[in-house]
Amino acid sequence: MHIERIPTGIRELDEIIQGGYPLQQGILISGPPGSGKSILATHFLYRSCKDGKKCMLMLTHVNVESFLEQALSIGIDFHSCIEKGTLLITKSFETRTNKIYNAARHGTGVGFLEKDCVQSVQDIPDDVEVVVIDNLDMLSLYHSTEDFADKFFTINDILFSKKCTTLFLIGQEDKAIKHIIAQHTAFGNIELFMDREPVTGKGIRQMHIPKMRCTYLTLEPLNFKITKNGIKIEKIFQRDEIINDALNSIL
Ligand SMILES: Nc1ncnc2c1ncn2[C@@H]1O[C@H](COP(=O)(O)OP(=O)(O)OP(=O)(O)O)[C@@H](O)[C@H]1O
Ligand SMILES: [Mg+2]
Repeated sequence: MHIERIPTGIRELDEIIQGGYPLQQGILISGPPGSGKSILATHFLYRSCKDGKKCMLMLTHVNVESFLEQALSIGIDFHSCIEKGTLLITKSFETRTNKIYNAARHGTGVGFLEKDCVQSVQDIPDDVEVVVIDNLDMLSLYHSTEDFADKFFTINDILFSKKCTTLFLIGQEDKAIKHIIAQHTAFGNIELFMDREPVTGKGIRQMHIPKMRCTYLTLEPLNFKITKNGIKIEKIFQRDEIINDALNSIL
């Protein structure tokens, strides 16, 4: 299937999705806290910066320093990218905390805080090619289902017209309607989760790709680890291949 792709920053993932994320589309990265969403996005941002693409990271729930610190802990140093201007980071988190502080001082609610999210996306400079929104949880928290659907659809559409390849990170509440709406709207979805191996009881991290338009998907969950070098996807033994190999050895 010949659509243009952009490398994810993780070689094994590129192989699995035929070269990378579909170019200029919006991909939803969902998963519970600590499942690896920000690290997955860190690999993508770093690879894109190294490839000379202008990138923007919109941080809504952690401060810039702690994002950069975690990147350093997996061997990724963004400081030269920031200095060169290939990585722009919007301090949405600091802006939010300031607004909350002011709202608390003036006795007003904080529900208005996200009203300018569409405008923030509209304001992304035209030369930005890669966007990561980490994350959509606050947008989902402060809005009704209809409002969330409208806003997410609009943000996705603005980024599409700006020709940006975007990762939307979102926490995953099982079967939550807003998550399902985001899955429907996005071009693709990668779900990250943590589980236990049924036999050994050992904790494992898994990645599941239920949707990626224009892309062949096996639908097999992939095991991965987060190491000091970031995400490492383990060798995939696909059920079909194992059965075929077994049949071939018998015949
Ligand atoms: N240097 C490292 N070495 C090994 N594991 C690490 C390292 N850095 C982070 N991790 C693991 O990655 C997890 C955090 O991943 P990440 O921040 O991407 O999660 P997340 O899905 O974005 O979480 P949240 O929803 O809270 O933002 C940590 O809980 C830790 O287990
Ligand atoms: Mg995160």
